[in-house]
Amino acid sequence: MIEDLNVSVIDHPLVQHKLTLMRMQETGTKDFRELLEEISMLMAYEITRDLPLVDMDITTPVVKCKSKTLDGKKLGLIPILRAGLGMVDGIVKLIPTIKIGHVGMYRDPKTLAPVEYYCKLPTDVADRTLIVVDPMLATGGSAAAALSLLKEKGAKHIIFLCLVSAPQGIEALNKAHPDIKIYTASVDQKLNEHGYIVPGLGDAGDRLFGTL
Ligand code: PRP
Ligand code: URA
Repeated sequence: MIEDLNVSVIDHPLVQHKLTLMRMQETGTKDFRELLEEISMLMAYEITRDLPLVDMDITTPVVKCKSKTLDGKKLGLIPILRAGLGMVDGIVKLIPTIKIGHVGMYRDPKTLAPVEYYCKLPTDVADRTLIVVDPMLATGGSAAAALSLLKEKGAKHIIFLCLVSAPQGIEALNKAHPDIKIYTASVDQKLNEHGYIVPGLGDAGDRLFGTL
């Protein structure tokens, strides 16, 4: 049962509306890119609502007072290449100082097994809360491998943010990394025989970069 897993569905109406537009096959690369950026920003807003705050002494034009500010908790953003890149700009607009690492991972089209080809991370990943982003969670293989790699490199606190997920992917990722909370905009029906999410939105990387 999905309800028993460490997953949260971000069902904000703006996110759901924009996701519908992204799913439509007639949506072209320009709009797909812009929608992914906008949804990523909206989802980042939701997942950061528990960031700790501290009081700061400030002076307004009227009076001295205390006011809330982020407590300086270190964050990191890790897109899984390629498609995860499409989620970066929207999140950086909200959190401009976030450090960014990259993990390159692709699915072997025959076996669907993840293949790692790149990894470059901020040096202090152990001290950061990492937001790992990839629009698609299908079998869960790519995400599980990326998260294992990040843990090997010392990461201790990670959250995973995706747009569209399959029930199998959520279960597999939760089994491999029960400590890592998954945020998704949609849990779709299933995977088809090629490992694509149904109804899904097709190949996110190809639609994002126009390599169809
Ligand atoms: C897609 C997607 C995920 C992965 C999901 O990447 O962006 O990384 O597939 O599938 P999984 O859960 O079954 O592993 P793809 O391999 O197409 O690479 P790309 O981003 O370079 O297009
Ligand atoms: N990767 C994608 O881009 N789309 C899917 O449906 C599954 C994996």
